[in-house]
Amino acid sequence: MKVTFKDVTLSYDGKIDTLKHLNFEIPDGSLVSLLGPSGGGKTTTLNLISGLLPATSGHIYFGDEDVTKKDALARKVGMVFQNYSLYPHLSVRDNIAFPLKMQHVSRKERYAKAEELAKLVHVDDQLDKKPGELSGGQQQRVAIARALAKSPSLLLLDEPLSNLDARLRIEMRQEIRRIQRETGVTTIFVTHDQDEALHISDNIMVLSFGKIQQFSAPDDLYERPSNLFVAKFIGEPVINTLPAETLKADLQGHVPDEIFAKAVTAGLRSEALVPFDNGQGILTTFHATLAYKQKYGREATAALNYNGQTLLSTEMAGLPADQKEGDFFITKAGFFLFDEAGALIFGGEAHDQ
Ligand SMILES: Nc1ncnc2c1ncn2[C@@H]1O[C@H](COP(=O)(O)OP(=O)(O)O)[C@@H](O)[C@H]1O
Ligand SMILES: [Mg+2]
Repeated sequence: MKVTFKDVTLSYDGKIDTLKHLNFEIPDGSLVSLLGPSGGGKTTTLNLISGLLPATSGHIYFGDEDVTKKDALARKVGMVFQNYSLYPHLSVRDNIAFPLKMQHVSRKERYAKAEELAKLVHVDDQLDKKPGELSGGQQQRVAIARALAKSPSLLLLDEPLSNLDARLRIEMRQEIRRIQRETGVTTIFVTHDQDEALHISDNIMVLSFGKIQQFSAPDDLYERPSNLFVAKFIGEPVINTLPAETLKADLQGHVPDEIFAKAVTAGLRSEALVPFDNGQGILTTFHATLAYKQKYGREATAALNYNGQTLLSTEMAGLPADQKEGDFFITKAGFFLFDEAGALIFGGEAHDQ
């Protein structure tokens, strides 16, 4: 089911707008993540989609139908939460079948559906157990199966993996992707974890301060962040930022003057600072001293001192150990300029190729 928001605003207290004029379209059959820091408005947005929360203004459409005034039951969404919220006294079979029981579907039919869904989420060998006898990952599989029982218009998941340990989170995010592909159900997945969002989504909506900061394909967030917030939020290590003015001499002739005049902040990904021109598209050169080099496992980082700023590079592993300074290169990919409002005004060429 396609979901469209037209100028949707939400205020909890009638004074402050928690969500400000949201406009977006989630294509039918896709998996979209809502990604952002805590308090950014992810759960609020999800609750507006589900109908648990009425919009203060604006319109919400499922397909071509205006559902703004429809309640959660009428919207027929399936929901999964961080804490599983299974019924502890019911078996796995009865938990999955529960929504169908509420709809007075016959016992035979609802158990057949429960078994089919248990197979889909790989808990078909656990049907007679109680939730308390299952691992966290298995419980979340059961919760997903239950959410799918009513053949929902949408599957909504609010930080479903946050209670699981790191290894299981990786396994489960792949499972959610697989289940979404197999069922084709339009899925909206809330997370504050960029890695999670980048790995499973067709598209990612970055939400912060109640606004959509960017809504695009995962690679675009990294290669062409629309603003400084996204540039700093996505990527590990965090992008180097410095006053654009610092780079003025080295950018002269490489960035159009009228663009540079508006630039306030420069962003340089750590892999955009390289020791040699190896043909990957060089923007300019700069002279810097090496503050330190560090190596852990496969990763080597170096800190460069440049015009009073420190820049982190992950590409300096090949330099001689005793090298103290040198002329280095900035690649076009991973170099950005932002204006006073934080909007991207230069860079993102990697995307154009
Ligand atoms: N029921 C509520 N009443 C009042 N304010 C709320 C309520 N729920 C959330 N908020 C506020 O709305 C903002 C967004 O919250 P939320 O949507 O839960 O963010 P997220 O899920 O991204 O962490 C926060 O400032 C939060 O304090
Ligand atoms: Mg939340």
